[in-house]
Amino acid sequence: MAPPPPPARRGRSSRPDRHRAVVVCIPGLEDIVGAELDALGIAHRPAGAGALAGWVTDRQLYLANVALASATRVLVDAGTITARTFADLESRVHEVDLSPWVEPGRPVRMRVSTHRARLQHTGGIEDRIRRALDLGRPPPADDPDALLVVVRNDRDRMSFRVDSSGAPLHHRGWRGPQAKAPLRETVAAACLTAAGWTPDRPLVDPFCGSGTIPIEAARRAAGIAPGADRTFAFGDWPSFAPGTWASVLADVERRMADAAAAEPAPILARDRDAGAVAATRENAERAGVAHRVTVEQGAVSDARPPEGATGGLLLTNPPWGGRTGGGGDLRDLHARIGQVATGSFPGWAVALLVADARLGRATGLDLATRLKTRAGPTSITLLATTPPA
Ligand SMILES: C[S@@+](CC[C@H](N)C(=O)[O-])C[C@H]1O[C@@H](n2cnc3c(N)ncnc32)[C@H](O)[C@@H]1O
Repeated sequence: MAPPPPPARRGRSSRPDRHRAVVVCIPGLEDIVGAELDALGIAHRPAGAGALAGWVTDRQLYLANVALASATRVLVDAGTITARTFADLESRVHEVDLSPWVEPGRPVRMRVSTHRARLQHTGGIEDRIRRALDLGRPPPADDPDALLVVVRNDRDRMSFRVDSSGAPLHHRGWRGPQAKAPLRETVAAACLTAAGWTPDRPLVDPFCGSGTIPIEAARRAAGIAPGADRTFAFGDWPSFAPGTWASVLADVERRMADAAAAEPAPILARDRDAGAVAATRENAERAGVAHRVTVEQGAVSDARPPEGATGGLLLTNPPWGGRTGGGGDLRDLHARIGQVATGSFPGWAVALLVADARLGRATGLDLATRLKTRAGPTSITLLATTPPA
């Protein structure tokens, strides 16, 4: 499909009628995020590792922020200039009009990177841009009001992108207590999708930690948009359209009301650690899904399907060793998971998020790779059996 024309601008302070958006995700989640964009009716194309690009209206931009489950943030293009020297930069940066997004005096955080470019000094680039565009001094790293502008200098082409999300989108707004090594909500959401889970299927997580996987599933089943409980940076833009946002929120509420009518499949969260169980209970409460998640304390060996459930998905993130400091032998633990899956969960699909894919063999289950991504510096793999049709 041919890309739509660039947005019409009517001088400074005018609002673009369309935005070229770049949806950023953890590398490895591009296909999942692409499918989420498809479901929202937003056309997109790959834009490098961990990025998808497309033209969006205000409505689609707001919807992407509130409804994408596996994306990290959504940026909008503010312009691109060519700069081979600091003098080029100082004279051309005025071609970039930030006025639809940045009101005068607003603190701006900048993230500058350079790749194969003549100007290499990121601090020097930021300094020139700040002075030329009157963006003030860098705000403290934790300033919640600061707007992020991402500057990427690739072979002397310097692109300016404004963040529409604010806090990364895995900040759903419900997380309170953390158990050890919590997963990002975006990764939990991607695993649910990659493992083929749908809200009509029972779900069990026997290593639930602070409850990220079961809570993410319960919110999806309840039709709660991932970002329903938080705010976004676009709400502070001079070009923010409150009426459009209100209509997006009305749609989000309607979807929730529709989902509430469906009979929920059971979701069971277990962990042997009392602190983890307490964290899951509190987080489920904060996330508005305590009535949808059963939380139990116990070792994986004692895990059983919820009463009445004859099949479903056992999706879990067992300890990875280093981060949980669980001790013991991870191979033995994975062999135990395999025995529990075959002995106590016959007919259930199994999906394990592991840092060492070789551990899949120890389960004795027939597992295939469904997803490869990262949790911070750690490469992680989702291994899964074929879900029953
Ligand atoms: C990697 S963490 C899970 C993190 C979780 N996905 C989250 O987002 O918070 C692994 C969890 O397994 C639990 N665990 C370790 N050995 C266990 C066992 N034998 N039976 C049940 N739980 C166990 C630990 O207490 C820990 O909470």
